Amino acid sequence: MGPGDLSEALCGLPLLTDGNVLRGMESLDDAGVYKINEELAIIQTVDFFTPIVDDPYSFGQIAVANALSDVYTMGGRPLTALNIVCFPTKSLDISILKAILQGGVDKMREAGVILLGGHSVDDVELKYGLAVTGTVHPKRLITNSGALPGDKLVLTKPLGTGIISTAIKAGEASKETIGKVTRCMAALNKQACELMQELGAHACTDITGFGFIGHAIQLADNSQVGIRVDSVKVPVFEEAKEFISKGLCPGGLYRNREFYGGRVKFLANTPEFLQDVLFDPQTSGGLLISLSAEAAVALVSRLEIAGVEDAAIVGEVVSEPKGKILVA
Ligand code: CO
Ligand code: CO
Ligand code: CO
Repeated sequence: MGPGDLSEALCGLPLLTDGNVLRGMESLDDAGVYKINEELAIIQTVDFFTPIVDDPYSFGQIAVANALSDVYTMGGRPLTALNIVCFPTKSLDISILKAILQGGVDKMREAGVILLGGHSVDDVELKYGLAVTGTVHPKRLITNSGALPGDKLVLTKPLGTGIISTAIKAGEASKETIGKVTRCMAALNKQACELMQELGAHACTDITGFGFIGHAIQLADNSQVGIRVDSVKVPVFEEAKEFISKGLCPGGLYRNREFYGGRVKFLANTPEFLQDVLFDPQTSGGLLISLSAEAAVALVSRLEIAGVEDAAIVGEVVSEPKGKILVA
């Protein structure tokens, strides 16, 4: 769980479960996983949110890339999806919804995902996303609980999208910056998923609302390990530095720092703006992948060939102190 997490409301509810639930409510994983038979498990996840960029087509693309990410995170292949639409028909033109859905469908086509249907409601605030079903071989499932001391950690997308989204809302971001961050958020984590499977990754999570630190702590907790981060190696949108200095930080950044700050130790040489960026809530962020040192080097170079150019080795997994992060 994370800051202000509504899933707290589910705590203590009597839930039905059975032996085929590989990942359920209590596991703090990215998606739920249910075993159909010894060769096949389904991965299910749902994600939807309010617009973070002004262009409706781009918003549709980002929302879909974001919703599919939790399937990729677990090493799965997304197969089918259902649209979730909340739209204010009284205040917005229906052409905006058409553009959002077109962006979404085009992104699903790129991912090879079939849209089976969906549900829409008239709502005061626009929201869009997907419920997604994917598959994985039960023995190939990658969770956030398999990281091993000695592993390296690879992050596949730059951080700072929350800060830049805040700057966009404030009218402070240039067209070029908006284009760059939009392309990043709309990029699928598909190649990263396929390559980490090939290279035998031990664990993975994707970086979303709880920021790099929050998701890294969940990985550390579930794997019973500690994490060391080399802050200058962390890929970051360079524009984030300027926006932080102007005070353009999302509220979620402060909430993440409040909630997780006690579990992180920053060494004195960590640049201050990086300390902020590591708590920045991300939308459709990259994968954080734990794998052997040799495989990590191979992953970064193969990602670069595949066009995922910002991927980098950002730290390592250590045995102690468990559940803590040391940032140097
Ligand atoms: Co996730
Ligand atoms: Co999610
Ligand atoms: Co319905």
